[in-house]
Amino acid sequence: MNYIQKYIEENKDRFITELIELLKIPSISADPAYSDHVLNCADAVSEAMRNAGANNVEICKTNGYPIVYGEKIIDANLPTVLIYGHYDVQPADPLELWDSGPFEPVIKKTEIHPEGAIFARGACDDKGQFYMHLKAFELMMNTETLPCNVKFMIEGEEEVGSQNLEEFVKENKERLECDAILISDTGIIANDTPSITTGLKGLSYIEVEVTGPNRDLHSGLYGGAVANPINILCEMIAKMKDENNHITIPGFYDNVIELSVKEREDIARAPFCIEDYKKALDLKDIHGEKGYSTMERTGIRPTLDVNGIWGGYIGEGAKTVIASKAYAKISMRLVPNQKDEEITRLFSDYFKAIAPTSVRVKVTPHHGGEPYISPTDIPAYIAASKAMETTYGKKPVPVRSGGSIPIVALFEKELGVKSILLGFGLDSDAIHSPNEHYGIFNYLKGIETIPYFFTNYAKDH
Ligand code: BES
Ligand code: MN
Ligand code: MN
Repeated sequence: MNYIQKYIEENKDRFITELIELLKIPSISADPAYSDHVLNCADAVSEAMRNAGANNVEICKTNGYPIVYGEKIIDANLPTVLIYGHYDVQPADPLELWDSGPFEPVIKKTEIHPEGAIFARGACDDKGQFYMHLKAFELMMNTETLPCNVKFMIEGEEEVGSQNLEEFVKENKERLECDAILISDTGIIANDTPSITTGLKGLSYIEVEVTGPNRDLHSGLYGGAVANPINILCEMIAKMKDENNHITIPGFYDNVIELSVKEREDIARAPFCIEDYKKALDLKDIHGEKGYSTMERTGIRPTLDVNGIWGGYIGEGAKTVIASKAYAKISMRLVPNQKDEEITRLFSDYFKAIAPTSVRVKVTPHHGGEPYISPTDIPAYIAASKAMETTYGKKPVPVRSGGSIPIVALFEKELGVKSILLGFGLDSDAIHSPNEHYGIFNYLKGIETIPYFFTNYAKDH
């Protein structure tokens, strides 16, 4: 057992109970009713940062929820690593689908996590993951092995689009100056198949409203004679894809970069079993854009999905009615070279163009974000890859994710620094869903892997 494993072995119970305490705070950024809890969570994070050994810990005010900053500068000649994470979490509903309270963490064993997993909202996304960095930092401080300067920036608005982080980054360029950015807010393929995320998708998120008659109508007296906004909205959404599941918005694919044969071969080499995939989701068959594999559909192809749709009568029993309005929330995940503002405009133009004259439509853009690609030949990637190889005994596979962390592209633009997405969650950890959890194995493995990143990076950067 080396000094890293020894420190973890001696402190792991405390590592787990500390995380459990943090998970008890319902820091839901989307719901104003939880604002006191979000602020309390920022306090708890700053406390944990200070206890781990960081200096100049500050709860930085923004126009929204604060950003917790802290640092340990040991030598101006050494490289500096900026750690980013988020302490806010997604709303927990629907509550009735949770087997235990979302903010009453419990440890349970599962098939995939025989050593146990902590069940709570935010366990994996992202409290459990950014907390690994505080504990790995504590480990390096207490064993006097910290080989780089470290800066921490843990924000509280990631799940609502990081709207105020942009300004913070622009105004704090000097304070945030660094050589590499390290983020654990993604996943690995499996606990015996480490991987590093090399791509994140961009995002355009839009709400649409379709209005038919000026009031809800009797569906017998008026049915068949006026536009039913729900029917029309369904038709319009259906028109957004053709029979090959290709998105029909004019210009949508114009800037999409087609991958080379070699790049697509690399993607196909990542371990993936379609039968397991279907089984895990209880699906008889998969579905997607013609001509692309599942990994390509999620990793390299832009997508369009309705996230929610409502209107009309959804109460008990039957009510014969033609609603006046229908609504939908629609997201498009974007790939390199697609600009979210442009895609939002293309969507909006198309949506208005295909609306029949019998209805009125309104398009309201929500937050967006640009995609991100991480090269695999830069020192920070190589340091991360070797770190995982040491702790997992296997070289990690580079994987492009379908998820988005819009701020990562902004870091590149404003700070000129690439981010390494060294996440440890599993797709099956149910982030954003009921019964979110994070494996104890994953948590401790992350704490073990991070110090190797630092030593590797200090040696070769
Ligand atoms: N940590 C996730 C993103 C993620 C998860 C990326 C797993 C790759 C693998 C992040 O907290 C998230 O949920 N992002 C949102 C976008 C945001 C603007 C709300 C997303 O991807 O939907
Ligand atoms: Mn996250
Ligand atoms: Mn999330």
